[in-house]
Amino acid sequence: MSSNNERWGSRVGLVLAMAGNAVGLGNFLRFPVQAVNNGGGAFIIPYLVSFLVMGIPLLWIEWSMGRFGGKQGNHSTPYILDSMTKARWFKYFGVFGIWTNLAVAAYYCYIESWTMSYVYHSIMRSFSGLTQTEVAQFFVNYLDVNQSYTGIPFEAVFFYILCLLLNTWILSHGLSGGVERAAKIGMPLLILFGFFLAIRGLTLGTSGATPDHPDASAWAGIDFLWNPQFDSLSNPKVWLAAAGQIFFTLSVGMGTIHCYAAYVKAKDDIALNAMSAGWMNEFVEVCLGSLIVIPIAAGYLGLDWVKENAGFGMAFQTMPFLFENWGPFLATMAGLFWFGLLFFAGITSSLAMGTPWMGFMQDEFGWSRRKSAWSFGTITLILGVPTVLFYSYGVFDEYDYWAGTVSLVVFALAESILFAWIFGMDKGWREITSGADMKVPDIYKFIIKWVTPFFLLFVFIGSIFSPLGGDWTGAIASLTSGNGWPLDNGSIIRQLFNSGLREQIAAATDPAVKAELETRLTYIIGARILLTTVFVGIAYLVYLAYKRRTATGRLS
Ligand code: PHE
Repeated sequence: MSSNNERWGSRVGLVLAMAGNAVGLGNFLRFPVQAVNNGGGAFIIPYLVSFLVMGIPLLWIEWSMGRFGGKQGNHSTPYILDSMTKARWFKYFGVFGIWTNLAVAAYYCYIESWTMSYVYHSIMRSFSGLTQTEVAQFFVNYLDVNQSYTGIPFEAVFFYILCLLLNTWILSHGLSGGVERAAKIGMPLLILFGFFLAIRGLTLGTSGATPDHPDASAWAGIDFLWNPQFDSLSNPKVWLAAAGQIFFTLSVGMGTIHCYAAYVKAKDDIALNAMSAGWMNEFVEVCLGSLIVIPIAAGYLGLDWVKENAGFGMAFQTMPFLFENWGPFLATMAGLFWFGLLFFAGITSSLAMGTPWMGFMQDEFGWSRRKSAWSFGTITLILGVPTVLFYSYGVFDEYDYWAGTVSLVVFALAESILFAWIFGMDKGWREITSGADMKVPDIYKFIIKWVTPFFLLFVFIGSIFSPLGGDWTGAIASLTSGNGWPLDNGSIIRQLFNSGLREQIAAATDPAVKAELETRLTYIIGARILLTTVFVGIAYLVYLAYKRRTATGRLS
């Protein structure tokens, strides 16, 4: 029944594709912002510990689950999970491993499309002669899809569709003919571009200081990120942020690694491959990711400015303006390198997000590669258009919260329990070490069984009950003095009920503001209904697949 005979072309191709999957916008846009917002050097230790006790174990778990599933012709999480336990309901956890990808791809491809457009604008020199405010405003205008301030009508929609078409087209060429080729071109270029910009970040020093920003220093930026501080080690807020970043950057808890690894041959190594791809991601994130935006911005605008303005828009709103300091030629090159780097980082990740859906449809319903690729493009478009059109109403953030954050933790918790406790650690260890081209440290047998699941449980519970302002000490004091646990608006509980927004609506006195907030709430609820519908739809397909398997006697 399965039409799925995909294979990786070579080991280098596999590792580059896996590294491309991990290295993404998260490395260059999310990491620096998370680090700055969580105290710079204070963030680094929890980050590294999370990598060691949660990231690496999950990489090994997911790679080995994937290869294990692939042996039996399962290339997506529902039936990979199913083949590891007798409990038939467990496969529905696997729905996360398809759903998350569709939902994340929807908004991720939107950011990816910005990078395409900004490559275009860098070449066209659209930013030349603009003030800092004007360059920042350019981005705001870009996101306002009803206007054509940037010169191209509906530019954001245009580039979004172009980006989806490109992704779909590459995916329709399959793993070795599409994904692997894209990684072989994209990854080396990305590293080359990254080096160029990182050297600039390293050598800028204080040469960018001006009378307006006399304290500007790239070194201050680097120092802030790299000077480890130990006082934050007891702050769960920093730990949660660090763990969240590890999830996102390694693409664990998503289902993409399982899918890629399912196409590895039964006897091939996974232990060393997993480490190669994982460490390559860390190198890019920690070395290149931290040497570009922050030092360059601090080098011209000062560290205080960076701390106040650290956000996701910095890459688009500020970098093109700063590049102009280097003269027209270098500014164009820098724009091309920076947005080109982001584009390659993005596309090698968004391609990965297409594969679990494709693998599932090919395995279970005999769909062709083309049909599954184009259906991925279509679903992503339907899910993504609201993030484009209603960006300002919080639709984008809603997707990012549920699919890009919470869902990863839920799925990783489920799979780590399945792997270490239901499938069993002895069998699991054999899966990890079979065919291994490296000695997997024995301590990881203990870590995977005891540390990782508890760490994940801590992250999950911590996110459900995040206290107001991330102030755990204050919250505990409040609880013990009988005043209850003050929840943060970002906690899962308050997000679920939109409590923060509802309180704002109740408190609004200006009718226009109230109406605006109510519209926002409507869009957020709409987004949630859409996401839930897709989830239920996939769960139904998993059920249908089960029926088909029972009918054809193809049950594990
Ligand atoms: N790891 C990617 C990044 O850092 C994001 C990603 C998540 C990619 C999930 C694939 C799957 O941007």
